[in-house]
Amino acid sequence: MTDNGECMHHGPADNTGGAFANETMRLLIERSSCRSFLDKPIPPDVMEQLFQAGVHAATGGNLQPFSIIKVEDKAVSAELGEKCHQKFIGEAPVNLIFCIDWHRNRRWAELEKAPYSAQNSFRHFWIAFQDVIIAAQNICTAADAMGLGSVYIGTIMDLGYFGDIRKMFELPDGVFPVVLLCLGYPKMRPKPRKKLPVDIIVHNEKYNDPSDSKLLEAFSRKYPDRKFEINDERIGYIEKVCRRVHGDGFALKCLDEIKKRGHINMAQYYFGLHYMADEMPEGNEKFVKVTEDAGFGWFREYRFKGD
Ligand SMILES: Cc1cc2nc3c(=O)[nH]c(=O)nc-3n(C[C@H](O)[C@H](O)[C@H](O)COP(=O)(O)O)c2cc1C
Repeated sequence: MTDNGECMHHGPADNTGGAFANETMRLLIERSSCRSFLDKPIPPDVMEQLFQAGVHAATGGNLQPFSIIKVEDKAVSAELGEKCHQKFIGEAPVNLIFCIDWHRNRRWAELEKAPYSAQNSFRHFWIAFQDVIIAAQNICTAADAMGLGSVYIGTIMDLGYFGDIRKMFELPDGVFPVVLLCLGYPKMRPKPRKKLPVDIIVHNEKYNDPSDSKLLEAFSRKYPDRKFEINDERIGYIEKVCRRVHGDGFALKCLDEIKKRGHINMAQYYFGLHYMADEMPEGNEKFVKVTEDAGFGWFREYRFKGD
């Protein structure tokens, strides 16, 4: 499934009134994903600085269990674009595939005669997942600071393609692709998208659930005027999704709400038509298989050889 951002740009994305303490803060608050790139290469010295920013990211225990595959080959980028169902990937002069990588640490441990079980540990997988994303985000922010644009692509984990990615880039056991980042000089820089306000996201001392009206208000400010026209195809899909996930009674309630309002609302669109609530949990077991194929076994009971 693709996520093209849908051009929901509606002015300033924050409550700072446009006053930023410094340029770094402006870059962080005014950033936006970029999906159209100039046909202009990124100079090697710029790439080197971005990679330095990635390499110096925070990482659990300073273990750096991640690798980045840099793709500049046009044909390979085009193939990524096709397989991830998002053509603009092929137009990015550089695509970076961020992978969890326990292979390198495993080799180090073997060479140094150290015990090793990281690929069988959820703890290590979980931290490595965070490490790789933090490194990616350092590169993303560095790219903004260097006048580049970027967008993450999550669809590299689509099931049909996951194995191909591992083959295409000859990823060894213990290397697990997480996310793709397209990089390039922006053809045009989209306006920042609206976000939920800080007081909905940040909780002081304890989790503080907002009232229904405050919550709805925050979402309607984030998505003002997002109304989707009713048509037979959409209604058919939403009804099917509601029925499958919550049963006939809920499907009726959802359709009633749509009829009452005269349109499909944003939440119904997101979870009924875009990230379809009935399809999203499909393939959970297959993801376990994919993880296993990549050389991980943390979801199984692990037995030490000496026990
Ligand atoms: C993990 C992750 C996966 C994403 N996958 C895609 C993707 O497959 N295609 C795409 O066009 N954008 C993708 N995005 C970008 C989001 O759509 C974008 O961040 C979001 O719409 C908010 O817009 P902004 O980045 O301009 O603030 C992804 C972002 C993240 C963090």
